[in-house]
Amino acid sequence: MDFFSEPKKNLCASFDVAPDKSISHRAVMFSAIADGVSEISNFLNGEDCIATINCFRKLGIKIEINKSNIKVFGKGLFGLNEPDSALDVQNSGTTIRLLSGLLAAQPFSSCLTGDESIKKRPMDRVINPLRMMNAKIHGENDQNFAPIYIEESKLKGIEYIQKVASAQVKSAIILASLYAERGTKIHEPIKSRDHTELMLNYLGADIVSSNGYIYSKPIKHLSPKKITVPNDISSAAFFIVAALVAENSEIKLTNVGINPTRTGILDALIEMGGNIKITNKKIVSGEMVGDIIAKSSKLKCINIGGEIIPRMIDEIPIFALAAIYADGETIIRNAEELKVKESNRIKTVAEEFNKLGANIEEKDDGMIIKGRTPLIGGEAMTYGDHRLAMSFAIAGFLSKNGVLVKNSESASVSFPNFFEIVNAL
Ligand code: S3P
Repeated sequence: MDFFSEPKKNLCASFDVAPDKSISHRAVMFSAIADGVSEISNFLNGEDCIATINCFRKLGIKIEINKSNIKVFGKGLFGLNEPDSALDVQNSGTTIRLLSGLLAAQPFSSCLTGDESIKKRPMDRVINPLRMMNAKIHGENDQNFAPIYIEESKLKGIEYIQKVASAQVKSAIILASLYAERGTKIHEPIKSRDHTELMLNYLGADIVSSNGYIYSKPIKHLSPKKITVPNDISSAAFFIVAALVAENSEIKLTNVGINPTRTGILDALIEMGGNIKITNKKIVSGEMVGDIIAKSSKLKCINIGGEIIPRMIDEIPIFALAAIYADGETIIRNAEELKVKESNRIKTVAEEFNKLGANIEEKDDGMIIKGRTPLIGGEAMTYGDHRLAMSFAIAGFLSKNGVLVKNSESASVSFPNFFEIVNAL
């Protein structure tokens, strides 16, 4: 399906964006190994999270879905069943990497596979530390790619220094460590999202984070609990940028997760001069939540790199759009991880925005974006990457002639009603 996104201004609205993808995955996974029934509300019914549900059903967990409310009938730490065929994570990196850690600790064999994009993404980053823990785990092509094959083994705790700031890798090690002999210590030079630590502790684990180190101990059980998932700041980012750049606009997004390990995008846009306010802050199921109000603003260029990058890694495509409309030259550094996301986002973002009229130079670890290059419009390819589809739809609002977003259906990976909201704006 292609979607034509027409120019828009005067964007004034208040609404909920899609529920948080990272937290929805974890809510299913951790509830499945808790001792009893967990009720999860505001669950993201996107394709990635449904892939997680399907994997857990294959592992013998009963899960009832009633729109965005789901019930997970947890069977305890050792209640999963051996699956009768490979578990298909489809397009979901979070599912394959976190499940690698959890399955490495189970007393049965399993195999994880996914779609063509997943089969091209690096898996040695989880396979290597899990092998150090004694896991019997293998990937294709030098241990780096899915399908991943796992056999039963007894795990031991390790000390591990993370080479890439990846929450998926950290979470895989933490999940395995819950089952390992002795404690595990992870050194995280740059902090990545900490939803795993927060949610496992909310369910009764004892994971301590201090001065760049994470200490995790084997546990006996997790308690089932009600979990309310906040709305996703990564999905909110599209409309925040739309409101900042479009003329005469004000958008309020309610109940958005504002965990500081995710709010790099807000910090960057505020530093650019973005008029963004957060109200109604509260803690819900262990996570910080608030309402975000963004208004039309005059943006100026900034340089980003270092610790902020993992805190806004998924928002760089839409951040690039803000930079296209800012005064001056914006430089993004230390963002080489973009190359191994759902598409090579350094290349795809630069090439496709340039086709629409931008001036972006690709760098090995980021990009240089010349500001004040208003987009003319045209056709944008999405490479099956949901965040590109949504970024180009917002680009259509801000462009002179509109943007035809090719194969826009991938948006439903993380934001199933994105185009309904776009049409209603
Ligand atoms: C995620 C972590 C990030 C992010 C992804 C979701 C998670 O990936 O890009 O969309 O839920 O843990 P990495 O851990 O590979 O950086």
